[in-house]
Amino acid sequence: MNGVTPRRVHLLCQYPDGENARHFSFRIARPQPRDFEVIPGQFFMLSVPGCGEAPFSYVSVPDLEGRFDALIRRQGGLTAALFEQPEGALLGYRGPFGKGWPLLLGNERLLLVAGGCGLAPLAGVVDEAGLALYPIRMTVIYGARHRQSQVLGRERERWKGRVTLHETCDDEPRGQCHGNPLQQLRMQLALERPDAVFCCGPEPFMQAVAGECLKHGVLANRIWLSIERNMACGTGLCGHCYLGSSYVCTDGPTYRYDRYRELLGIGNAHPPTFSSEFC
Ligand SMILES: Cc1cc2nc3c(=O)[nH]c(=O)nc-3n(C[C@H](O)[C@H](O)[C@H](O)COP(=O)(O)OP(=O)(O)OC[C@H]3O[C@@H](n4cnc5c(N)ncnc54)[C@H](O)[C@@H]3O)c2cc1C
Ligand code: FES
Repeated sequence: MNGVTPRRVHLLCQYPDGENARHFSFRIARPQPRDFEVIPGQFFMLSVPGCGEAPFSYVSVPDLEGRFDALIRRQGGLTAALFEQPEGALLGYRGPFGKGWPLLLGNERLLLVAGGCGLAPLAGVVDEAGLALYPIRMTVIYGARHRQSQVLGRERERWKGRVTLHETCDDEPRGQCHGNPLQQLRMQLALERPDAVFCCGPEPFMQAVAGECLKHGVLANRIWLSIERNMACGTGLCGHCYLGSSYVCTDGPTYRYDRYRELLGIGNAHPPTFSSEFC
C-alpha cells in the first residue's frame, strides 16, 4: 500500500489551458520504482502547504526523471492556492492511487468519450496508443461548452492525424462543431460498433453515454467510466469515497459499467436524460 506521508514534488511550470483551468508540469523529487508503473486513469494526491490535499488525474505519467503533467481546474481553496504557486515551488505528492484504464490488446476499435475536464484522465490513453506495438483504431469524441472552455489544447493539436478526433461545442454556431457530444456519439455508433468504450465527464453525462452505447449493441462489460467522489486518504482507510459498497480510491476510479450499475443497484433501468453540464 502507498504511504500516507506526502513526498516532495516540484512545480516545474504552469500555463492557462481552458477557462479556469491550467496545465501543470511537476517533477517528483526522488522517484521510486512505483512512480514508473503509473497507468493512465490512475490518480495522485497533491498537497499545497497550509491548504490541504486533493486528488488529480495524470495527463501524462511520470517519465524516468519523475516529470508528469496534470490539468487542473480552479474550484476552491486548494486549486486557487495552487494557481498562485511560482515555478520551483515545493509541494506534497502521494500516489499513484486507484485502478487505471484496462489494457486492451489486439486489433481493437476503441472509442473514448470525454466531457469538459474529463479529457484529462483519457489523455494518457491516446498518447500510449501512439506507442502501441499492435494495431489500434481510436476515435475520440470531446465535448465542451464552448471553444474557450476546451482543455488540453497542445495535446489535441498533437493527436490530430494520429486518431480520429471529433470536437463538439454546445455554443458553437451551427455547422462548426455545433451540438453536444451525445449527437456525435450516436452518429459514430451508427457507423461502427466499438470493441470498447472509455468515458470520463460529469456522472449524468457518462450514464447517458453508456446508455447510448448499450442501445447500439455495445455490451456493458465493454464500457468503462471514471468516477469522482470526494476523497481524503486515497488509500481505502477513511470511507469518504463510497460508491455503493466500493471505495472509489482503491477499487476505482475506473469502473466497468456492469459493475458500476451493480454497485448503484441500477439494474436495467433506462439511463437518465442528460442536459449538457460540463465541468
Ligand atoms: C479520482 C479523481 C481525479 C480527479 N482529477 C482531477 C483533475 O485531473 N483535474 C481537476 O481539476 N480536478 C480533478 N478532480 C477533482 C478535484 O480533486 C477537486 O475539484 C478538488 O476538491 C479541488 O480542491 P479545492 O480545494 O480547490 O476545491 P474544494 O473546496 O475541495 O471543492 C470546491 C467544490 O467542489 C466540490 N467537490 C470537490 N471535490 C469533488 C468531487 N470529487 N466530486 C464532486 N464535488 C466535489 C466541493 O464539495 C466544493 O463544493 C479529481 C477528483 C477525483 C476524485
Ligand atoms: S478516500 Fe479514504 S477511503 Fe477512499
